[in-house]
Amino acid sequence: MPFEYTKEGNNYKYLSNGKWQLSVSNKFISVLNPVDNSLVGKIQDVSKKEIDEVFKIAKSSQLQWQEIPVNKRAEILHKAADLMLKNKLIIAEILMKEIAKPKSAAINEVERTADLIKYTAEEGLRISGEIVEGQCFYKNEKRKTAFVNRVPFGVVLAISPFNYPINLSYSKVAPALISGNSVILKPSAQGAISVIYCAELFLEAGLLPGVLNIVTGNSSQIGDYLVSHKDVDMVAFTGSTEIGKRISSLAVMKPLLLELGGKDAAIILEDADLDLAVKECISGCFSYSGQRCTAIKRIIAVGNIGNKFSDKFVKEAEKLKVGKPEDNSNICCLINKKAVDYIQELVDDANKNGAKQLLFKTRKNNLIGPIVLDNINNKCRIYYEEQFGPVAVIIRVRDKNEAIKIVNDSEYGLQASIFTNNINDAFNIASKLNVGTVQINGKSDRGPDNLPFSCVKNSGLGTQGIKYSIEAMTRIKSIVLNLN
Ligand code: NAP
Ligand code: G3P
Repeated sequence: MPFEYTKEGNNYKYLSNGKWQLSVSNKFISVLNPVDNSLVGKIQDVSKKEIDEVFKIAKSSQLQWQEIPVNKRAEILHKAADLMLKNKLIIAEILMKEIAKPKSAAINEVERTADLIKYTAEEGLRISGEIVEGQCFYKNEKRKTAFVNRVPFGVVLAISPFNYPINLSYSKVAPALISGNSVILKPSAQGAISVIYCAELFLEAGLLPGVLNIVTGNSSQIGDYLVSHKDVDMVAFTGSTEIGKRISSLAVMKPLLLELGGKDAAIILEDADLDLAVKECISGCFSYSGQRCTAIKRIIAVGNIGNKFSDKFVKEAEKLKVGKPEDNSNICCLINKKAVDYIQELVDDANKNGAKQLLFKTRKNNLIGPIVLDNINNKCRIYYEEQFGPVAVIIRVRDKNEAIKIVNDSEYGLQASIFTNNINDAFNIASKLNVGTVQINGKSDRGPDNLPFSCVKNSGLGTQGIKYSIEAMTRIKSIVLNLN
């Protein structure tokens, strides 16, 4: 059973060729619980030589994997997803310890990912090619027929962030595997243990050795080496814009999927259903303590709705439970001290530059917030920068046009929300917002995971979402028959 193979003492192994291994480097990274800094476990700091070996294995096993019929690959994914569901409480327990995710959100992450894997398995059965006839094209005298297929890239390098370790790892692994790629997965150090646990479930489900490999280590040491490795055929990355830009500069001529930072705005029009807008914005700003790429990071209150909105919003924010993940608290510790210090820095800067602080509930160790800042203006850093924590930012504007301009002035373009009862306004504004997705009368949100998840500007490149991820992890190959 899981962990029997993956662990020796406190040390979690890395996965290569279907076997859990201890690195010869004898160097480890400690994964600490953000709540009390206690040791959750140690992960391997793998050497470059070991990385070369993993690439060699991933490359050769991919050739066997792509020959296995897609229905067999789908069966394995279904089994792995069933095992995740069976073990969901154990996985959620690890998530609570590693990343301080509230219990119900941690369980939800596992269930959601199992659903995603199953849906991906089904969608994979529908990957199909087409036949394109070329004979009618201008001056084409030959009769040509193209058999157009989707084929795997080869070895996919998947790099995932700390905030959804399971979801954002296996939403890369599942589409890559179903379409015949092999995967080298590098999870965030904080989150790696839950990812390792799930990988063991894939092995138990019957995955061919070497098709899913996991390397762990110090990103500043191995990150560039992995990304620029000659045997990488495609890179799928989720994380900060800073690292995403670095990856895109290193992965020259390699297909890339990048899901990066955001500064999602919620525009509240004067005719909005205020109760709904407040409820969605509370959840949008504070779920998982604001550590979501799709968190609402700016609330733009239009015209005279500002005071009514902020009064109601603060009353609801005050009710949020601050405490431990096990108690299902709404606000739990942030991932580390650096993250808390950054939030404090942005709040201090805003207060110096004319913000009105309506609420600042807690500050103790890695626990901070909930915080509500009103009257944010363009002198404040938080007007532009991505706060990755429980801070709601309210910006007051005169009219819809000013709201649209502020949304579009950002370096980011992930999602935006519009709250209104006027469907014409909703669609008119939505068409002018330069983002990947616009939500009408709902918070910004990635799920359900089969919807397209796309972005513009510094929020990333490419589109995810089950069918779209499969497309992004395959290329078109044609075989043309010439009839003379
Ligand atoms: P991060 O610091 O950029 O780390 C993301 C991943 O990259 C981790 O596995 C990290 O490993 C690794 N990494 C760090 N330096 C690297 C390098 N030089 N080369 C290769 N890999 C490297 O991001 P995070 O703090 O985990 O996540 C928060 C950020 O992710 C936020 O900006 C958030 O908006 C964004 N995010 C975006 C989406 C989306 O779908 N658009 C979803 C979730 C999160 P270590 O952690 O071990 O250093
Ligand atoms: O930040 C991670 C992203 O995947 C969030 O997902 O469903 O909470 O919007 P969701």
